[in-house]
Amino acid sequence: MARTLAIEAKDLSKTFHPRKPSKGIRQTLSDLVVPRYSDIQALRGIHMTIEYGRCVGLLGANGAGKSTLVKLMCGIQTPTSGTLSVLGERPNRRSHSFLRRLGVVFGHKSSLWWDLPVADSLDAYARIYRLDRAAYRSERAQLVECLNIGHVIDKPVRVLSLGERVKSELVASLIHRPTLVFLDEPTIGLDVAARYELREYLKQRTQSGHLTSIITSHDMNDIETCCQEVVLIDGGRVLHQGSITSLKKALGTGSSISIILPDRPFTSQDGDRLRQLHAPQSMRSITLTTSGALHIVAPDHDSQQRILADVYAFYPNSSIQVSDAPLEDAILQHFLSSETPERRSRP
Ligand SMILES: Nc1ncnc2c1ncn2[C@@H]1O[C@H](COP(=O)(O)OP(=O)(O)O)[C@@H](O)[C@H]1O
Ligand SMILES: [Mg+2]
Repeated sequence: MARTLAIEAKDLSKTFHPRKPSKGIRQTLSDLVVPRYSDIQALRGIHMTIEYGRCVGLLGANGAGKSTLVKLMCGIQTPTSGTLSVLGERPNRRSHSFLRRLGVVFGHKSSLWWDLPVADSLDAYARIYRLDRAAYRSERAQLVECLNIGHVIDKPVRVLSLGERVKSELVASLIHRPTLVFLDEPTIGLDVAARYELREYLKQRTQSGHLTSIITSHDMNDIETCCQEVVLIDGGRVLHQGSITSLKKALGTGSSISIILPDRPFTSQDGDRLRQLHAPQSMRSITLTTSGALHIVAPDHDSQQRILADVYAFYPNSSIQVSDAPLEDAILQHFLSSETPERRSRP
């Protein structure tokens, strides 16, 4: 394997065989003797390569297979078929050298001791990882300061707010200076301020290029802020891997048009006027902001040109800004338009 690759997956599949639930007394009794199992193909032939130093976002709807892929990459679960190399090792062997270089945050699970102060959990991790005392102290002080959790470090985890707890989890996962960190839904359930703080920290940390990070999140802002690259997973397969711009191009995001008038705010009548001229399919959305600007999302280049022609005609003095539509919009449109029977029938 080339040394520049932190992760390499070839034809990777994972099938779960959970027991089928029993209905009625007869089935319960017969299932005791001969249990019935179903097949759930969570991953179906994943091909993916991730270079060292990259921050990669794993995207996909609920049940797409993101967490399963993360669990295979951490070695928590074993692939059914295919090969997977992470940091040059097979993750499911869970060798010390592999685990020593890995950090993991599962947004909805805690790796800190509930009744202990955060500092005690961190001390315990320092011992588990056999960290040098001085290096540990300085890394801890730096992380605590950057994530602004100095005031909670001596409190038991159970009394922390969700934002404080997730930030403490992040400190625990980075304290041993891992090479690779997996963050599964790190901002789930956080309020706007905590989400912003965490995102900004991750952005700063992941852009330094010293850490390889894999982030799964439903929040496209997390991905757009922190990641240089994205992998879109759908029905257990990789639909796209590349930069956010290339994903937007592949999904046909369209463009976002922002318009401001020099002398007055836009009103709902202005919006109605434009709406009447363009069919809903050629104007994906039109919104009025509280500051009086108008935001329009056009699905393609032709619609964008037609909308701009009308805007120039009606408001010749307006200032207009055209940019790629947000990733959120592209993903939403993709999933709305590709609701296949296969996906709907998946358990
Ligand atoms: N331990 C398991 N046993 C049975 N099915 C599972 C298990 N873990 C995941 N699945 C199934 O695999 C599919 C992918 O799940 P998951 O990887 O958690 O998706 P995501 O993280 O993208 O929401 C889902 O259909 C889920 O129900
Ligand atoms: Mg998940």
